[in-house]
Amino acid sequence: MKVSVIGTGYVGLVSGVCLAEKGHEVVCVDNDVLKVNKINLAESPIYEEGLDELLLSNIGNRFSATIDLKDSVINSDLSLLAVGTPFNGSEIDLKYVRQVAKEIGIALKEKNDYHVIVVKSTVVPGTTDEVVIPLLEKYSGKKSGIDFGVGMNPEFLREGSAISDFMNPDRIILGAIDFQTHQLMSELYSPFSGITCLKINNKTAEMIKYTSNSLLATLISFSNEMGNLCSSIGNIDALEVMEGVILDKRISPILESGDRIVPSITSYLEAGCGFGGSCFPKDVKALIQHGAMYDQSMSLLKSVIDINYKQPFEIINRLKKYYHDFNGLKILVLGLAFKPGTNDMRESPAIPIINQLHEGGAVIQAFDPVAEEEAKNVFKGFEITYFSSINSALNGVQVILLLTRWPEFSDLPQIIKKKGIDPLIIDGRRMLPKNIVTHYEGIGS
Ligand code: UGA
Repeated sequence: MKVSVIGTGYVGLVSGVCLAEKGHEVVCVDNDVLKVNKINLAESPIYEEGLDELLLSNIGNRFSATIDLKDSVINSDLSLLAVGTPFNGSEIDLKYVRQVAKEIGIALKEKNDYHVIVVKSTVVPGTTDEVVIPLLEKYSGKKSGIDFGVGMNPEFLREGSAISDFMNPDRIILGAIDFQTHQLMSELYSPFSGITCLKINNKTAEMIKYTSNSLLATLISFSNEMGNLCSSIGNIDALEVMEGVILDKRISPILESGDRIVPSITSYLEAGCGFGGSCFPKDVKALIQHGAMYDQSMSLLKSVIDINYKQPFEIINRLKKYYHDFNGLKILVLGLAFKPGTNDMRESPAIPIINQLHEGGAVIQAFDPVAEEEAKNVFKGFEITYFSSINSALNGVQVILLLTRWPEFSDLPQIIKKKGIDPLIIDGRRMLPKNIVTHYEGIGS
């Protein structure tokens, strides 16, 4: 199938390259000529494990990039609309979606064959039918359901494992206005055999995406609320509490062999210093805002955001148990990215924490395996000393704050023992044994 993908951000580029790998003929479109040139040289503009290799093996073969949207739409059977929907503080900004819908409409005017347009961007329920379709019809002078089809196909990629998530999907969600559109979308996904495919309307597909992310974010805030209560009551460890909760056979079913299936979703039940990234905070806030339009107070999701906003300050509260004044205090921050496996610092809990340390006059040292450059942009003007290993970063530190679950941080006990040091450790991800130092503070304990 000939596919055009509009937008070469995270979702667009990964989807485009993976669909080419699966045998489709794909052209990715972007209005940024530098980005397009880079992609055509097989250089990925974003870092994602395995993407460079896949780009290299498909470029000039079944995959290319261009700035010519009209030509790409005219010469393909199906277009994926994968532009960004940034959150402007009160709602998602649809300016890129609108612009691309208009340009696709203009292209459709000159196309005689039937075409399918599929929205892949994360958009609130109703956007495809009420914003995209009217623009397509207006600028093409044609009718949806007759001259062209429109669908909605949300993406469930995680940063850091996007290629593997796309190539091995857990579900394929196909929203569409009619049978013919569903047929063409099914053809797009025919190389992914054996995967459950849900065929529904566009609004339902849009809602599935928001509900999925809201559920995961809710689990995190729920665990953090329970964890904070465990800490306040004292002598209760939230890790042990959750272990006991997860033993419920409705959560972890017992097999005939006596073994248990522990669903991977339970990792979202670990108490920590909060969720971040480009999706959970933005999507939950956008859904709250959207709910207000329908007189739904969305009080649970408001609490999810509220708890998450406060959670990084738990780290500061723990620090204040030992030091009222941060001035001159030498603090090592381990982990800056919002999660391991990425250099992404968007909405990272490290940001409010480092801001507070900076305000208090602390001497800040930091180590993150990949996010140092990103951090230098985020904390411009701050005096932070960055280190390239945990070992070198430890010298003279009075406090260690562990903020990201990078696997290499589990080496800390051996490193600390070898160095013979005894700083205060505040473990925001509960990765370390409690007896690692004299004064250990773990979120949820
Ligand atoms: C999230 C969803 O997991 C994807 O399914 C979705 O496609 C994506 O948003 C999106 O909407 O585009 P992502 O933000 O990359 O993906 O990251 P996650 O790995 O889910 O992490 C989100 C937050 O959950 C992070 O703050 C992380 O620390 C936390 N998390 C992650 C956990 O608490 N436990 C985990 O096991 C994984």
